Amino acid sequence: MNREVAAATLIESESRSRLFSPAMLGRLRLRNRVVMSPMQQYQGTADASATTYHAHHYARRARGGVGLVMVESTAVAPEGRLFGDDIGLYSAAHVAPLRAVVDAVHAEGAAIAVQLSHGGRKSFRGAGALLAPSAIAYDDTYGVPEAMTQAQIAKAIADYERATRYALDAGFDAIELHAAHGFLVHQFMSQISNHRDDEYGGSAHNRGRFLREVFAAIRGVVGPDYPLLVRVSGSDFDPDGLTPEAVAELLLPLRELGLQAVDVSAGGLSPKVPYGIGVEYQVPFASTIRRALDVPTIAVGLIRGADRAEAILREEHADFIAIGRPLLERPDYADDLCRDLSGRALAA
Ligand SMILES: Cc1cc2nc3c(=O)[nH]c(=O)nc-3n(C[C@H](O)[C@H](O)[C@H](O)COP(=O)(O)O)c2cc1C
Repeated sequence: MNREVAAATLIESESRSRLFSPAMLGRLRLRNRVVMSPMQQYQGTADASATTYHAHHYARRARGGVGLVMVESTAVAPEGRLFGDDIGLYSAAHVAPLRAVVDAVHAEGAAIAVQLSHGGRKSFRGAGALLAPSAIAYDDTYGVPEAMTQAQIAKAIADYERATRYALDAGFDAIELHAAHGFLVHQFMSQISNHRDDEYGGSAHNRGRFLREVFAAIRGVVGPDYPLLVRVSGSDFDPDGLTPEAVAELLLPLRELGLQAVDVSAGGLSPKVPYGIGVEYQVPFASTIRRALDVPTIAVGLIRGADRAEAILREEHADFIAIGRPLLERPDYADDLCRDLSGRALAA
């Protein structure tokens, strides 16, 4: 059964699949609600360019049926690279190879977004000064970062702006601001890593300022309707850190700035091992943030099988399902889920 027939069977059948029904992400129409979660490929060139590897890799998952491909963490500045072999969008030279990725994914019928990131105190050593809101180390490996001056903060915001212009030049359909996993934006948001006593630290309002300013800067470049998402860590897994309710509070002002969806992951702020890791452990965070904000969420993390994905959507914990590792192992994972569901719907 080809994909169109399988999806049509599902939509018309009793099961009325939400996972494989077309959906809107802001103004962007997706053919289904399966998102390829952003995953580093460690295949960038030394100067952070994408290569034909990336075009093949992402287009292959698009051919396998996902609705939205989210390109891996992409650095907005050399000193914000996470690894020596990740990719970036801080030079005009980065645009053409990423346009090839965009074109290859579009040719397979999927939409494509890019995840813009800056590692802050968790940046790759050797890429420049290690910058963070406060001079607090993540661990001994990374070492103690420099507390950013206001000029360095302004420069970082300008870096996001420049990366956004390049992302538009490359033709991306949407942008996800990486504010999760203990990277720079998250470092400002969490009281564990942000001990500043200026207007970027202290109260929740102040800890959310960098997030708001970066988001507003990106919005200013893309215009009012362009799909903008944020990935957050729904919990710091630390009694002194962020809870899903606190994250929702920090995100609330972004609604007025046109936040179209929140991609809800968890952890990464401190090296302490998170508790409670198990099947679908992040879904409750997506659910809490969705209810608090009334903004669509993407649930991610150990969501396996079409029935579970459908249940998460039906129970309104989330509006989209991101799949990570299964798509690395099986590029056709989305199509397989669709055929599995439609085969059963036909047999019923
Ligand atoms: C190899 C690998 C690379 C990843 N790179 C990123 C990344 O660049 N940005 C990000 O936000 N998450 C990244 N993640 C996390 C995934 O997006 C996803 O949230 C996680 O794998 C949980 O989903 P899963 O259980 O379906 O794999 C990565 C995960 C893996 C396994």
